[in-house]
Amino acid sequence: MQLLDGKKTSNDIKDEIAAEVTKLREAGEKVPHLAAVIVGNDGASLTYVGSKVRACKRVGFESTLKQLPESTTEEELLELVGQLNENPEIDGYIVQLPLPAHIDEEKILLAVHPDKDVDGFHPTNFGRMALDMETFISATPFGIMELLRRYNIDTSGKHAVVIGRSHIVGRPISILLSQKGKGANATVTLTHSRTKDIKALTLQADIVVSALGIPNFLKADMVKEGAVIIDVGITRVPDESRERGYYLCGDVDFEQVKEKASYITPVPGGVGPMTIAMLLKNTLLARKRHH
Ligand code: GUN
Repeated sequence: MQLLDGKKTSNDIKDEIAAEVTKLREAGEKVPHLAAVIVGNDGASLTYVGSKVRACKRVGFESTLKQLPESTTEEELLELVGQLNENPEIDGYIVQLPLPAHIDEEKILLAVHPDKDVDGFHPTNFGRMALDMETFISATPFGIMELLRRYNIDTSGKHAVVIGRSHIVGRPISILLSQKGKGANATVTLTHSRTKDIKALTLQADIVVSALGIPNFLKADMVKEGAVIIDVGITRVPDESRERGYYLCGDVDFEQVKEKASYITPVPGGVGPMTIAMLLKNTLLARKRHH
């Protein structure tokens, strides 16, 4: 078994980005500027956004954090989105999800200008991705594809089983894995809550991507010997014995499954850090495009 080390790989990517930022700075050009919007006080979201802002500093980007109260109205958020669209200093921005229930998420995502949509959530960017056109690919699926590419994992003609059909992971990764090109060309099965017999499918999989959010869902008896296992799950499981009061748990029963896998991502330290690195990559791309 080989670990797919997202922490190390994301650090390599950040070093590459930092080198490009240094070049921009030396040439007297504006460095990339990412803004992040968060509404409310969800603990996990605050942690993720904090990591994104720290990552900007690490590579030499400018960053702006807009933290709004839970009581923010849809109109107020749309107003801020409008300002970010207009602000020439900001190359790209994200609105952290989930949003409070009283705000229509779809309405907000539609209001983000596609040229600044470094999350790749706008229908224009998602559609361009699905049609093999240049775009911003959502950071988590982009990170998974980059991890597969950097570890030279052969995906061509392989059977990839994706668990979960979310708009931000399951759906896009199923499209990317099936596309033409290095690190893709897989035959993809997309499974979800209505799938009749997930185990029968995962047992046939050369590659499993699990983006379900159920701790330790994928057991050793559900995977084929030598399979590549990508764990996107990152659930906070309450644990009073820890100072933080919880621990992070993936969808994959790591201790069992690692004995059968050829490659496997750990949680934490697998897909999570890759997501942040790819968001930075998209922001650098946005900067270059606007230039
Ligand atoms: N919530 C969970 N993942 C993401 C992400 O990649 N981007 C944003 N904006 N919100 C998220």
